[in-house]
Amino acid sequence: MLSEEQAFDVVILGAGPAGYAAALYGASAGLKIGIVERDRVGGTCLQRGCVPAKEYLETAAVYRSIRGAVEFGITVSDPVVDFAVSQKRKQAVVDKLTGGLAGLMRSRGIVTYAGDGVYEGDGRITVSTGETLVGDKVIISTGSRPRTIPGFEVDGRYVLTSDEVLLLEELPKSVAIVGGGVIGCEFASAMADLGSKVTIIEALPRLLPGVDQDLVDVMIRSFKKRGITIHTGVGVTGHSPSGEETTLTLADGSSLVVNQIVIAVGRQPNFEGIFGGRASVAVSDRGFVVVDGSYQTSEPGVYAIGDLIETAQLAHVGFAEGVAVIKTILGEESIPVDYSRVPWCIYTHPEIAFAGLTEEQARERGYDPVVKKDPLGGNSRARIIGEVDGFVKVVADRVTHQILGVHIVGPWATELLSPGYLAVNWEASVEELAHFIQPHPTLSEAFGETVFALTGRSLHVG
Ligand code: NAI
Repeated sequence: MLSEEQAFDVVILGAGPAGYAAALYGASAGLKIGIVERDRVGGTCLQRGCVPAKEYLETAAVYRSIRGAVEFGITVSDPVVDFAVSQKRKQAVVDKLTGGLAGLMRSRGIVTYAGDGVYEGDGRITVSTGETLVGDKVIISTGSRPRTIPGFEVDGRYVLTSDEVLLLEELPKSVAIVGGGVIGCEFASAMADLGSKVTIIEALPRLLPGVDQDLVDVMIRSFKKRGITIHTGVGVTGHSPSGEETTLTLADGSSLVVNQIVIAVGRQPNFEGIFGGRASVAVSDRGFVVVDGSYQTSEPGVYAIGDLIETAQLAHVGFAEGVAVIKTILGEESIPVDYSRVPWCIYTHPEIAFAGLTEEQARERGYDPVVKKDPLGGNSRARIIGEVDGFVKVVADRVTHQILGVHIVGPWATELLSPGYLAVNWEASVEELAHFIQPHPTLSEAFGETVFALTGRSLHVG
């Protein structure tokens, strides 16, 4: 089989955001890269996650706008959602981006192998199609898949995960979403807007654990107005299907009849079947590949990044880890990813976005936090577009005036976060930022005004 061995500087197993970012960045630095992927390139994010899910949410946003058009004096009679058309559009977006990514990888000289790869040890990855790739360094980035729970076999008919929801041609009349985390809340938001009767069941006492409760409260108010029912502090025990419906039983003894159940209780790493006999890569009890601060596994020269390691399961964190690991391989200084300051963007309606510490976290870390909040009710652009539910909240340190956290809820929060993210990561002071002009009228003024107020003097913010 020696004749079929291909030599590379770096071989990568898995072409999701972490793996393809490492490939693109490495190739642009002159490294010879081989990458193995069993599916189309792009991973969960592009094929079954961020991109298709946000396209659904955009369909919901367009429908919402049309129904709200009457407020602007535009009469639209009886708008109807044809979800099969939306599904086709979603697939066209995904296909276009997938083709673009594959082309970019080819143009950088990255060699992609289509098949199941196994890391055998000694820098070798074998592919189910017969080839063997040999790399000076190896990166494992096989990602994650939806976690399921006992008693809820995923059949695509009554029980779905995010994978199956994103393939639906028709939305259910009623749906129970188990898990009130990021996926659960995004699907609840889109499905309710598109006409499904939605119930969220979350085992913990609150939705979106880890997110500033003030932001979550704004989202919950909107969810309730749009007819979403929320049960917190209760788990689910099982379900029994009959005809078009299934009866879901909750741990408190109550039950609920719905057309479909979506399980959104987290994602588990894909580590099974990817290591051959000579590999010596340690995997934790929870199934995550164990790495050090440079993403090196227990086997020297073998690195792991993305959802396969126990860091925030976000595509953009995978990108950052891909870049960091290539810098390490090149022997360059690599600033470690600061996981306490990564940007989080939740695409519900209203959107939620934040970076850095909440007031409570700042206090826990020994800061003396001071907080200012600018409600969007006073923002001209928010009034113009008719979306005033939301605010920007900035947490700073009373002593040093350093900006510690930026938290936004409201229209386009995910697009508005960037200056806040930069401020937090640049460790900017409120005085440094207050000096800059914000264009008027924009939603982004709310961030500038909030920072300005933290200097002790302000224009519009109280
Ligand atoms: P998650 O960890 O965010 O939320 C899962 C929720 O399910 C938790 O609140 C948990 O308490 C609850 N839960 C667990 N078992 C339960 C049970 N038996 N009954 C009721 N509730 C139960 O996981 P999620 O939402 O599935 O997302 C997976 C990953 O994908 C997350 O790390 C998330 O960050 C990432 N993601 C990020 C997005 C974004 O940034 N916009 C979008 C989609 C996913």
